[in-house]
Amino acid sequence: MDDIIYPDLSIIILGHVDHGKTTLAKSLTGEWLSKHSEEIKRGLTIKLGYADFTIYKCEEHGYFTEKICPICNKENKPIRKISIVDAPGHESLLMVMLTGAAIVDAAILVIAANEPVPQPQTLEHLVAFKYLGNKPLIIVQNKIDLVTREEAMKNYKEILNLLDKLNIDKNKVKIIPISAINNININYLLEELVNLPKPEKDESSDPIFLISRSFDVNKPGTDIEKLVGGVLGGSLLKGKLKLNDEIEIRPGLFINNKWIPIKTRIISLKQGNSDVEEILPRGTAGIGTTLDPSVTKDDTLAGQVAGYTNKLPPQYDEIKVKYEVIKELFNENEKIQKGETIIVGLYNIISDGVVKNIEKGNIITIKLNKPVLGYKDDKVIILRNINKRWKIFAIGKLL
Ligand code: GTP
Ligand code: MG
Ligand code: MG
Repeated sequence: MDDIIYPDLSIIILGHVDHGKTTLAKSLTGEWLSKHSEEIKRGLTIKLGYADFTIYKCEEHGYFTEKICPICNKENKPIRKISIVDAPGHESLLMVMLTGAAIVDAAILVIAANEPVPQPQTLEHLVAFKYLGNKPLIIVQNKIDLVTREEAMKNYKEILNLLDKLNIDKNKVKIIPISAINNININYLLEELVNLPKPEKDESSDPIFLISRSFDVNKPGTDIEKLVGGVLGGSLLKGKLKLNDEIEIRPGLFINNKWIPIKTRIISLKQGNSDVEEILPRGTAGIGTTLDPSVTKDDTLAGQVAGYTNKLPPQYDEIKVKYEVIKELFNENEKIQKGETIIVGLYNIISDGVVKNIEKGNIITIKLNKPVLGYKDDKVIILRNINKRWKIFAIGKLL
């Protein structure tokens, strides 16, 4: 039977450092997504990892990531293709995680069963994801091989308490005990993934492609004639993109004190591990361009947006935002101050700026270092520097 070509869901793996996100991504997709020498040396995810995988069903034995049922050796039926985004857990990489969370439809939060709940980034990732939208969440209790049944139950109760504290409906969140490294209970997770609703996507509007990674895919020393243009990774928020489409990338490059949109043409498209002629607003995708790869290398265009020329949302150097403090984490009466440097996130675009003006009712005007794109009422996530660390502090809307 033919495999499914397009994924219909993208899901980010969130959680505290070392709780087993990359190990779980490997168990699902078969790929180790931390590929950079620095990541391997330090055992730490630094960049977003991507892979697509298919869930198969054996009528008798349930869900698998393999085409052939390992129990009866019969051919399984492909049920669903899903894009996985593996996020870093380290607190200093919060902005990378936010760029990833902005492009997905759902999340798996990995919580290690052998540590008290919540660890700092367990809480922070959960709060960020809750406020980013009403997206489905699955929690996995990982490393159950390291704890007794009693310890696992205690950990489970701590997770329930955390959900209560954050006003997240416990009945809507499945908690699945697994051991990612030993592939234990992954079949139950697959079943939950199959049951997640297919997100409603608008395929007919002008495309908005959220770039969360960018690459130079050429190996060092490649002949000039064989060099491939710069590649963009990310996901379509809406619309479609086709081969040969002319696109612009905003805010673009900062040249002579001005942000200049980048113009390019699409020369290859990849989605769901396949080369395709058009990409859809489902799962993650890769766009090959005519750009000089030096422009796209090392994620330099991560946190930018691509679409047809003059068809992207309006771009602002300065924004006015009405915010609400995240009351589960901070005192509601704390106020952002005039002159303070803060970080804002709109979609996948993360930018720092200085608060130029404050008004009654938690309204602030921010002069940004890198322009953002958005429409009135779009959601803005606000990070504040607290004790030398960037923390998710408030959620606002663009005025
Ligand atoms: P960051 O990306 O740095 O945030 O870490 P991570 O959440 O991706 O964790 P990673 O998958 O790198 O795993 C961290 C450590 O936990 C590694 O040594 C894994 O082998 C180990 N580990 C992951 N899953 C399990 C598990 O189910 N059981 C046990 N015993 N160890 C596990
Ligand atoms: Mg990792
Ligand atoms: Mg690690």
